[in-house]
Amino acid sequence: KGGGRISPDDFRHVALAETVSTNSECLAKAREGDPGNLWITAGRQTGGRGRRGRAWVSEPGNLYASLLLIDPAPIARLHSLPLAVAVAAHRAIRTVMPPAAPPVEIKWPNDILVDGKKVCGILLEGEELADGRRALVIGIGVNVGVAPEGALYPATSLRREGASASPEELFAHLFLAVAEMLALWDHGTGVARVIELWRSAARGIGETITVNLPDRSLSGRFAGIDHDGRLLLDTGAGTQQAIAAGDVFFG
Ligand code: BTN
Repeated sequence: KGGGRISPDDFRHVALAETVSTNSECLAKAREGDPGNLWITAGRQTGGRGRRGRAWVSEPGNLYASLLLIDPAPIARLHSLPLAVAVAAHRAIRTVMPPAAPPVEIKWPNDILVDGKKVCGILLEGEELADGRRALVIGIGVNVGVAPEGALYPATSLRREGASASPEELFAHLFLAVAEMLALWDHGTGVARVIELWRSAARGIGETITVNLPDRSLSGRFAGIDHDGRLLLDTGAGTQQAIAAGDVFFG
């Protein structure tokens, strides 16, 4: 990079009425040689994907957005990228909530909760392209008008929590917040600041939580996160575990 700071002008946006998955759409563009910094949004998705192989029910009325980045950073730095995006989504959602609204918090690793219920999930997908470039797609789904039934974690929508913004209005805030947080993250010492912002918005640090892993559950005191975004869990007698992926439950 030429040392220039990332700015909102660096990003393009394509709005689709419907697609299978905006993440897939971004990966397809990358394979066609797109230079990156491309946002794709859709009014609905017919095959939306969630974390850990789950489906993301994608009815009209919500925000489905993906950002394609090409070679955004050395691999080692990429672990902290989702944290920056979660802070940006937290900020954008807070902006559209009315005053005296219920708390907006980040749930590790990068969900956003309003009043303790999930309104936003983030899915990162990467791919090594045929020409050697690395594509990274950050997919963000926000329940703006509709909350899915029967989700793994209790869900709500921004409308139910008192916000009147449309998906388009929320996207305008998200677009700016992500550019701002990527600029911070991209800047030398910015990762420490990103982690500080993440911590100050996070739910449950210092509390007892349960983390469901594919093969077992762990309970302990949520001590915080490390620079790679791993959850630090104190499981008693001076033992701390660093967890890279799992589903957190509070209280
Ligand atoms: C999660 O499981 O919490 C992550 C959900 C991510 C959903 C978004 S919606 C836009 C983008 N396209 C997808 O297929 N998934 C992400």
